[in-house]
Amino acid sequence: MTSMQFEISQKAPQDINSDILAIYSFQDEEKKAELVWNDTLLQIDKYLNGQLLNNCLNEGFQGKWGSIFSMFTLGMIIPKKIAIIGLGKKSEFVLEDLRQTTGQFIKSINKKNKTIAIILPSGTLENSKELLDSVVQSVELANYEFDKYHTQKDEQIKLSNVLFILEKGKEISPLNKQISHSRLYSQAAVLARNLVNEQPTIATPHYLAELAKSIAKDSTEISCKVFDRVQAEKMGMHAFLGIARASTIEPKFIFLEYKPKVSKSKKKLALVGKGITFDSGGINVKPGNHMQDMKMDMAGAACVLGVFSVIAEIKPGFSVIGCIAATPNLISGNSIVPGDVVKAYNGKTIEILNTDAEGRVTMADSLSYAVEQGATEIIDFATLTGAAVVALGTDIAAMFSNNKDLAQKVKTAAYEAGEKVWELPLEKTYKKLNKSEVADVANIPSGHYAGTIAAALFLQEFVDDKPWVHFDIAGPAFADTSSGLHPKGGTGFGVTTVLKLLEV
Ligand code: BES
Ligand code: ZN
Ligand code: ZN
Repeated sequence: MTSMQFEISQKAPQDINSDILAIYSFQDEEKKAELVWNDTLLQIDKYLNGQLLNNCLNEGFQGKWGSIFSMFTLGMIIPKKIAIIGLGKKSEFVLEDLRQTTGQFIKSINKKNKTIAIILPSGTLENSKELLDSVVQSVELANYEFDKYHTQKDEQIKLSNVLFILEKGKEISPLNKQISHSRLYSQAAVLARNLVNEQPTIATPHYLAELAKSIAKDSTEISCKVFDRVQAEKMGMHAFLGIARASTIEPKFIFLEYKPKVSKSKKKLALVGKGITFDSGGINVKPGNHMQDMKMDMAGAACVLGVFSVIAEIKPGFSVIGCIAATPNLISGNSIVPGDVVKAYNGKTIEILNTDAEGRVTMADSLSYAVEQGATEIIDFATLTGAAVVALGTDIAAMFSNNKDLAQKVKTAAYEAGEKVWELPLEKTYKKLNKSEVADVANIPSGHYAGTIAAALFLQEFVDDKPWVHFDIAGPAFADTSSGLHPKGGTGFGVTTVLKLLEV
């Protein structure tokens, strides 16, 4: 985790010892091309002898969404620099704007500044805790790097201290509490990112299993069981083991359980994550550059582990279980091949027609296991289909559900989390696409269309009508370009949505 320090200060902004003082501001609603000069800006402008206003006007800075103005303060006030972050129009403002603009700003100042003082936008949302929450998480996520394999690390200046300025007379301790709480969220997302970004020869099923065990070891409310190949075989997880057959890297079935100390709730939420630690495609080997990012195929599992890493501190009032069938999808003389039939944990048979559609086959067992463990609700995360990326692009996850109430709750949580999702239908008439001549279901659909829906319908065969939400995160789990809130690589998608759900 980052060694960043967050503090609250009640000093006047002009007296704060920091490399940069950041203030948010809106664009004027009516007049075009003008910044809203709020009281804070006006006050600081006085100390700067009118230079702030002057320079903003000269540069034509309007406070447009994502625009940034900055100037040196030349000793007129204690902060060495001042920056204004444009939020666009106040009437259109939502929390996501704060996350995005903060992320971009932090990216732009990192490596140049060590300490930053921030004045949160005032008079926007009712709940100033929400503002603080978004900014804390954005600062941490924008600052994230995966640089353990770089051997040449130049002596960079790293952002290490963040001060939030609070008016005198207001109480500090609730805000400090909020900061610690928000940091749990980013910590969980960072863990998920690190797991996805780690090289596949290190982030093996064993590695994920040891992590799960260590999470359980640290808490009296969490327990963990790991089943190896022999045990999973005895239990009847033949779908999962069919995919694992080619690999000399041992598969692990990971089961985590959180039970609250006291609870009257009968709810048991299952979190199921696709855990393919590397997807070569198997015998249907992936062509060319389609394989290069396939260490990310365990992003669903990473999401589940990220959530469990902080669940004891979030303390939901109901049980939560986590199920991960972890294995790479490799190639050997012992590979599963097209035409093979495997029996899943729930007794249904699957005809393998393409070994690259391996995720749904392993999840047949992890979903069935969740049902058998008494899950009353199931949410799964899987980098399941390239077709989801074709349909919704790299930023939006495809979501499916067999239950309207659960779907609505999950959508609300995703919106609050700033994670973009879009629901696609579990179209019954498309079930015929997954028909097999020789088994109960085939692992790829016939024809070229609706690949994402067909994969979701396949998974539905294994949830036994339990209220269920499926996320196909093939797009947003791994970024191929960097953005304000993440570099190229694992994004930690799903973690924040689930954590929000655990708090309702
Ligand atoms: N892990 C891939 C899906 C994927 C593709 C994730 C691109 C992220 C980016 C999955 O196992 C897969 O290979 N799916 C196939 C299914 C097909 C053979 C029916 C696909 O999408 O091409
Ligand atoms: Zn695949
Ligand atoms: Zn895959």
